[in-house]
Amino acid sequence: MNIGELYDRSIASTYDRDERGLLSGGRDLAFRQIEKFVPADEIRNILDLAVGTGQSLVAMQTLFPHAALHGIDLSEEMLSIAKTKLTFHSIHDDVANTDRHFAQNSMNLLLMHFLTTFVDGEEVLKRTAKFLQPNGYYSIVSSTFEAFPRIYSLARMLFSEEFIREKNPAPASTETILSFCANAGLEIVSVERFTKKVSFTDFEDFYSFGMSSGFFTHVLSELDEAQVAGLAGMEGVFPLEDEYCASVVLARRPR
Ligand SMILES: C[S@@+](CC[C@H](N)C(=O)[O-])C[C@H]1O[C@@H](n2cnc3c(N)ncnc32)[C@H](O)[C@@H]1O
Repeated sequence: MNIGELYDRSIASTYDRDERGLLSGGRDLAFRQIEKFVPADEIRNILDLAVGTGQSLVAMQTLFPHAALHGIDLSEEMLSIAKTKLTFHSIHDDVANTDRHFAQNSMNLLLMHFLTTFVDGEEVLKRTAKFLQPNGYYSIVSSTFEAFPRIYSLARMLFSEEFIREKNPAPASTETILSFCANAGLEIVSVERFTKKVSFTDFEDFYSFGMSSGFFTHVLSELDEAQVAGLAGMEGVFPLEDEYCASVVLARRPR
């Protein structure tokens, strides 16, 4: 099952609950960066790469009421939810195919919020930065591999590092994301870090969060029954306190 189908079937209907506020926390920092640094009168076209349920485009509509809004996503269900919230040019496709739908130098603002867990972030940034006009802005919110250190140290007791990294290709750290930006020819405008303590009362609480939020769905859904039972049966683990973190970066294509 590809990621789009996984979102269609298992995540879209519960995604906006965002019960622990991890998505809204990261996005809100990005919205504040954009409001502070991006000149409103220069923004005519905004493209959201992995628009999801449209939460970021809704905020952009408020900040830039005259801009044309565009969004691409692999999940039809996520796009349908977004369409109930706002009118935008909606494309059901992989971000790898962005050049089939948009011309180079056509956007003033690109958003890539919570996509890097599923794609090669460096590759996507390199491929998509060219859609920005000179002096166009690129807003990135990205979980890093520093998120959920307790959960991943438990996972390492059951799975190889290789398996874990293959399932979670998130950038290692903020510095990794900054290097992606540099390699895509972007200059950094602002860097923030969102962190939040997260607790899970028991395995069911963790599993239900992991599946319905999208944060661990792509990993948990690949485990067989015995592997899930192995995780559920670990003693002395719950209640579990952990920490989430995401990097929030605003970059710009030089003039
Ligand atoms: C965690 S959600 C983020 C959605 C939105 N950006 C937000 O901030 O809530 C990840 C989204 O990326 C989409 N996605 C994953 N891989 C993709 C790809 N290669 N191309 C397009 N969309 C993709 C999923 O369908 C899902 O809607």
